[in-house]
Amino acid sequence: MPDQWRSDELVFFVNGRKVIERDADPEVTLLTFLRKNLGLTGTKDACGRGGCGACTVMVSRCDPVSKEIRHFSITACLVPICSLYGAAVTTVEGVGSIKTKLHPVQERIAKSHGTQCGFCTPGMVMSMYTLLRNHPQPSEEQLMEALGGNLCRCTGYRPILDGGKTFCTESNGCQQNGTGKCCLDQREEDSSSRGRNSEISTELFTKDGFQPLDPTQELIFPPALLRMAENPEKRTLTFHGERVTWISPGTLKDLLELKAKYPEAPLVLGNTSLGPAMRSQGHFHPVLLSPARISELSIVSTTSEGLTIGAGCSLAQVKHILAERVSELPEEKAETYQTLLKHLQSLAGQQIRNLASLGGHVMSRHCYSDLNPILAVGNATLNLISKEGTRQIPLNEHFLAGLPRADLKPEEILQSVYIPHSRKWEFVSAFRQAQCQQNALADVNAGMRVLFKEGTDTVEDLSITYGGVGAATVGAHRTCQQLQGRCWNEQMLEEACRLLLDEVSLPGSAPGGRVEFKRTLVVSFFFKFYLEVLQKLKKLDYLGSPEVSELFLSALEDFPVTVPQGVQTYQRVAPCQPLQDPVGRPIMHLSGLKHATGEAMFCGDIPRLDRELAMALVTSARARAKIISIDFSKALELPGVVDVITAKDIPGTNGAEDSKILAVDEVLCVGHIICAVVAETDVQAKRAIEKVKITYEDLEPIIFTIEDAIKHNSFLCPEKKLEQGNIEEAFGKVDQIIEGEVHIGGQEHFYMETQRVLVIPKRGDQELDIHVSTQDPAHVQKTVSSTLNIPINKITCHVKQVGGGFGGKIGRPAILGAIAAVGAIKTGHPIRLVLDREEDMLITGGRHPLFGKYKVGFMKDGRIEALDIECFINGGCTPEDSEAVAEFLLLKLENAYKIQNLRFRGRACMTNLASNTSFRGFGFPQGILVIESCITAVAAKCGLLPEKVREKNMYKTVDKAIYKQEFNPEPLIRCWNECLDKSSFHSRRMQVEEFNKKNYWKKKGIAVIPMKFSVGFTATSYHQAAALVHIYTDGSVLVTQGGNELGQGIHTKILQVASRELKIPMSYIHISETSTATVPNTITTAASIGSDVNGRAVQDACQILLKRLEPIIKEHPEGTWEDWIKTAFEQSISLSATGFFRGYKAFMDWEKGEGEPFPYYIYGAACSEVEIDCLTGAHKKIRTDIVMEACSSLNPAIDVGQVEGAFIQGMGLYTTEELKYSPEGVLYSRGPDEYKIPTVTDIPGEFNVSLLPSSPNPLTIYSSKGLGESGVALGSSVFLAIADAVATARRERDVAEDFPVKSPATPEWVRMACADRFTEMIPRDDPKTLKPWSIPVA
Ligand SMILES: Cc1cc2nc3c(=O)[nH]c(=O)nc-3n(C[C@H](O)[C@H](O)[C@H](O)COP(=O)(O)OP(=O)(O)OC[C@H]3O[C@@H](n4cnc5c(N)ncnc54)[C@H](O)[C@@H]3O)c2cc1C
Ligand code: FES
Ligand code: FES
Repeated sequence: MPDQWRSDELVFFVNGRKVIERDADPEVTLLTFLRKNLGLTGTKDACGRGGCGACTVMVSRCDPVSKEIRHFSITACLVPICSLYGAAVTTVEGVGSIKTKLHPVQERIAKSHGTQCGFCTPGMVMSMYTLLRNHPQPSEEQLMEALGGNLCRCTGYRPILDGGKTFCTESNGCQQNGTGKCCLDQREEDSSSRGRNSEISTELFTKDGFQPLDPTQELIFPPALLRMAENPEKRTLTFHGERVTWISPGTLKDLLELKAKYPEAPLVLGNTSLGPAMRSQGHFHPVLLSPARISELSIVSTTSEGLTIGAGCSLAQVKHILAERVSELPEEKAETYQTLLKHLQSLAGQQIRNLASLGGHVMSRHCYSDLNPILAVGNATLNLISKEGTRQIPLNEHFLAGLPRADLKPEEILQSVYIPHSRKWEFVSAFRQAQCQQNALADVNAGMRVLFKEGTDTVEDLSITYGGVGAATVGAHRTCQQLQGRCWNEQMLEEACRLLLDEVSLPGSAPGGRVEFKRTLVVSFFFKFYLEVLQKLKKLDYLGSPEVSELFLSALEDFPVTVPQGVQTYQRVAPCQPLQDPVGRPIMHLSGLKHATGEAMFCGDIPRLDRELAMALVTSARARAKIISIDFSKALELPGVVDVITAKDIPGTNGAEDSKILAVDEVLCVGHIICAVVAETDVQAKRAIEKVKITYEDLEPIIFTIEDAIKHNSFLCPEKKLEQGNIEEAFGKVDQIIEGEVHIGGQEHFYMETQRVLVIPKRGDQELDIHVSTQDPAHVQKTVSSTLNIPINKITCHVKQVGGGFGGKIGRPAILGAIAAVGAIKTGHPIRLVLDREEDMLITGGRHPLFGKYKVGFMKDGRIEALDIECFINGGCTPEDSEAVAEFLLLKLENAYKIQNLRFRGRACMTNLASNTSFRGFGFPQGILVIESCITAVAAKCGLLPEKVREKNMYKTVDKAIYKQEFNPEPLIRCWNECLDKSSFHSRRMQVEEFNKKNYWKKKGIAVIPMKFSVGFTATSYHQAAALVHIYTDGSVLVTQGGNELGQGIHTKILQVASRELKIPMSYIHISETSTATVPNTITTAASIGSDVNGRAVQDACQILLKRLEPIIKEHPEGTWEDWIKTAFEQSISLSATGFFRGYKAFMDWEKGEGEPFPYYIYGAACSEVEIDCLTGAHKKIRTDIVMEACSSLNPAIDVGQVEGAFIQGMGLYTTEELKYSPEGVLYSRGPDEYKIPTVTDIPGEFNVSLLPSSPNPLTIYSSKGLGESGVALGSSVFLAIADAVATARRERDVAEDFPVKSPATPEWVRMACADRFTEMIPRDDPKTLKPWSIPVA
């Protein structure tokens, strides 16, 4: 340890204010410092690993040499405060606020409806703001790049981009279908309703009145920091924390001395590799050396032979440097640079590229490194320096494997990387395939270089390296040697593939899994290289090598990142509607501006209370075991630890027998909550849980998969069944029968705000105040009551706003609330429990994985006569909502189809996984894929197009659903026809076919699906709602109701209702929070029905009030609202009323299989087109058109946002979101690195949404419809389009037409389904002989 114990002062600026930290702790990140020390809670914490962008802030620094001021976005969760010496930090609070002045970025993101829950919004604002600081008029491509590292789970990104595009110089139009026309123009000519109906609008917001961007108004770089940059401190600065010392030398010499003194100490540059390892993998370094002030590490120099880049340069700088070099050099010299640039484009998000350094990247030697394989084949050299002097070593496979003879000595550091120019007759390429195209770690990547003997196609030198196929980047040295002297032709290709598969061998149980896919990529990449090189040889006018067939050329093109375009159409309000009446207008989300300024207060933003303690959970490491003992004595010894809460501390009921709140003597899954540590700080609590020792005795059987559950008869509920007609008889009469299977993986809610609760005990009366992020505060209240054994009336739950729920915050917050409440009662202190992303994903469960089997009987013309479907869902270890999900699945399974003879059966399996729960769509997103896959299979067998079979079997006239509820499908048919029309489906189907004929390695697919979605719960009591409306003497109105604001805009819609009813502007009305004290016994905000039923209750209360005011208004019709209220008060008229809505009639008799379970239906249709790369499994979403029946939308901006957001969430479910479990039941995918929700670059290139007006629905509030969930299921159109493309490839390759339907359609699934000569040549494993890395649970 260093001998000096006095810390230096850490000086930096935050939002123009000087911060002097005398006891800077190197373990404290900027995010923690902002939120806890400075109370700047606008910057959000959503993953802590740099993967989501919620914590984005701008850092500005003055370059001591050039004196230039650089502004760059970074993720504050990865930045140690000690690294900020001399920097200026700007957070969302520093950009603007409602109280002072909004910044145009904040205004535009809110007014373009770019916020829903608002948890991602400050990060989005900061990414955009930083872009504008550097480029006041950016291009749309720059905007996409700037937002690539920011995740949003609600909006689907389109409105965020729309807000950002208002700053962009050029709008490139959508260039629809390559016609050069904008889709807007084209629509004018088409025959859709939009062309005919002038009441249709395409404008959800107007730019009029937007404040202009004025760069002169921005915060200036602090002069004090300019002065510091002019006279840089050469002294070594040291910061001692509780456990770690940070040393930042001012000169290279000092750095080298220190490295010699502390050879084990790592150098911290961007901390993007060290930081996550310290946080998640328990890596610990007592001394950290920061070379940030050493200018020698940032030097860039060029010679006629190559380029040297300082190890301290950020990857963003490297990108810039390379781009410059590429523009200056002739193509032949810039091959390596061009290739590096290609991978830098997709490497992480902008914030990470701004932080991560070249040196850190090279030295981390991650097996997935995107740059090291290219640097290795490009013959890069590492320039090392130490006290002893300098030396060079090659950046080759030996260095990358960490062989001591090829590695740095402990006292050496990397000063710079030398990358030579390429030469004529030398070609360099790189490839990568990840779960999605951008901002995702590669499954496999590769760098390849070949040098030919001049003027020939004879290989003089060949170099190939792969990432992702071993513990480090691996080189195919032997293969390359053997291919020297060979001509570049088909024989060489065959030989190369054989040699590569032999040399780059990957065991069947290799970490990371996807083994056969990776093996296939090894050869597929080489094939791409082979073709690329042939093309390049041709460009050099070399005529000796084989021609690349036109059919094969598309193998060479990567999918470009395009700026999404699209149109949103909806019905305008009638011209006669009073201006004051906001119903039906695209009003901005009530909290939009607060989201954009960071002023919106989420549960975790409540300032720390006096005597507050933090809680952390101890969870099971075993999937099913007896708890032999819990020893927390070591935890209690740690500083700050106050207590440990176990089941024994529960004064009341410990949950239900089959789902205990805290485990008693048995654990049922990895992640099962056993006990909780209470400590003074969250850091202390987290450290203490590591010291709690649990001894287990494993129990049998342990079940993870549906297959095993069926084998062991392990179910959470009895079988549910719906039946109509006579299925057996019908099977006897049909032309053909086919059977098939569908496997659908689960889905993580990935709400941006993880679960959190703050329980405040009130002294004396055993009362509790609970602030909780939940969709169901009454459930939290009830659960806490029974757990503590105190009456419900002593517990008040408050919900201000929730950072996304999607069904995941219905059941779980009650359990967490109860545990925290036990802690609060036991210790007498307020307790805060905040799950970090990993814990949240481990503990909470999500959408149910499904395994479905169908048997379908049909006639030659595609008419389905009999359908028998049996579904099993993986419910996890406790019942929770699984039985209800199974029921809803069956009720919704028929989708839009009238099939005379049907049998649907469903069961929820009990397994030893975290309990799965409600998730937007509640079984339907799984069900729709089962039935639509079945229809696709029928079409394939009949030789018909799937859309024809869909049309043939669709409901067409008034009819009854399988459970005998009558409905009129007229809007369904309209949506279908509109969708076919608006998407120009039939002509595009032909274009797709044309494309597919001309391209062998790329295929396009298109699919259109209809949807009938039932809204609401299956019981009347679940639709009841209440509200409380107060009018105050100044005329202002306070509305409280039972629905929770989750981002879906319920508060906005409710105020629109109140405004219409009371006939006053919305600005008079306020909605503060949802509280169990003001509106009791609320139902959960879910099932798409929240705004509707609570709107009815508010309407009732307002009408009661207005009735009371009527006599006064009649008497003084010319009076103002304020006058009437004043008079009412003087006349002692009560200005407060409760409103109530009894609920829609709904019931279901499962014995009879009959009922009227749903108040109403929503109809829709979606058409998606994709293109797949058969060699890598990648896909590009070309276009999606959605038509959704909205009746009379309460707020079209919110409803369009719900449809789009749900669709993108569904698209994630069906394409990229893959949960991976170990054979021991441990969830691997516990963060944004491993679990990929869609990013801005994943949304369809063209994305059009139309809300279709339809005949009034007298049942609901102002004839509106709840559009919260249904869009998820439409995401399956993307899956079906991918499957369509895959089927075309399989037909062409003459492989069996049917292939197993497995969702998500990951690159692995697509690649392996597109079987070809490369999939055939890879070695296959016998699954019986190996233990796989992961197991499928559906
Ligand atoms: C969210 C996220 C997404 C990512 N996505 C990708 C991706 O898509 N593709 C990809 O390839 N990578 C990706 N990465 C990894 C990223 O590229 C590396 O983490 C990064 O390049 C490391 O650089 P750093 O400056 O942050 O290193 P640090 O974390 O600061 O240091 C890493 C290691 O390098 C050593 N070191 C640093 N500089 C020197 C030096 N000059 N001399 C000797 N040793 C040194 C340190 O001692 C330390 O051990 C991602 C990372 C994150 C967090
Ligand atoms: S919280 Fe920092 S990137 Fe997610
Ligand atoms: S608005 Fe983006 S995560 Fe909710």
